[in-house]
Amino acid sequence: MTVLDKQFELFIPQNKIQQSVEILAEEIYKDYADKTPVFLVILNGAFIFAADLMKHYKGSCKVSFMRISSYEGTSTTGKIKTHIEASGIKNEDVIIVEDIVDTGNSLEFIWQYLEEQNVKSKKIVSLFHKPKAYKKELPLDYIGMNIPDKFILGYGLDYDGHGRNLPDIYQLKTT
Ligand code: IMP
Ligand code: MG
Repeated sequence: MTVLDKQFELFIPQNKIQQSVEILAEEIYKDYADKTPVFLVILNGAFIFAADLMKHYKGSCKVSFMRISSYEGTSTTGKIKTHIEASGIKNEDVIIVEDIVDTGNSLEFIWQYLEEQNVKSKKIVSLFHKPKAYKKELPLDYIGMNIPDKFILGYGLDYDGHGRNLPDIYQLKTT
């Protein structure tokens, strides 16, 4: 499949993604059954994952959004910009909802931001993680799938704004 100037191949089909999302929702519920966590969705990439995660979440919960950006094309710029700030998180049990933790730069940025916002507690759920690219020490509480350090696309994740609507996950073809 071609997106802009690059070739992608199917990597993770939608039924596998859904299985992983259901397991994550159950794992979180086990820890938060007696609480009302606020799912802090990190836009844009996490919006589809967050919607599915919340549909599978059985307990009381709330949602808030924060928009940051760091990626250009297929690699991170390292410089993170905040476009939309989170609201309704003071004194709350916040769960950061990420599509993918790659280098960890974004997560560290969000973590620092939450340190200043007087939240009651904070944890992170990410559908994907690239352990080989991760450069930080922050614990990753709930991870759906560990994947190789290769660019992926679909299910909310984009290549220069394209491909977020694909229901499956594709991987950049290297040959
Ligand atoms: P990090 O700051 O390097 O951990 O990157 C985190 C953000 O970069 C994610 O939330 C994604 O939005 C984006 N990102 C990282 N890896 C990929 C990828 O393989 N495909 C598309 N977006 C990615
Ligand atoms: Mg993202």
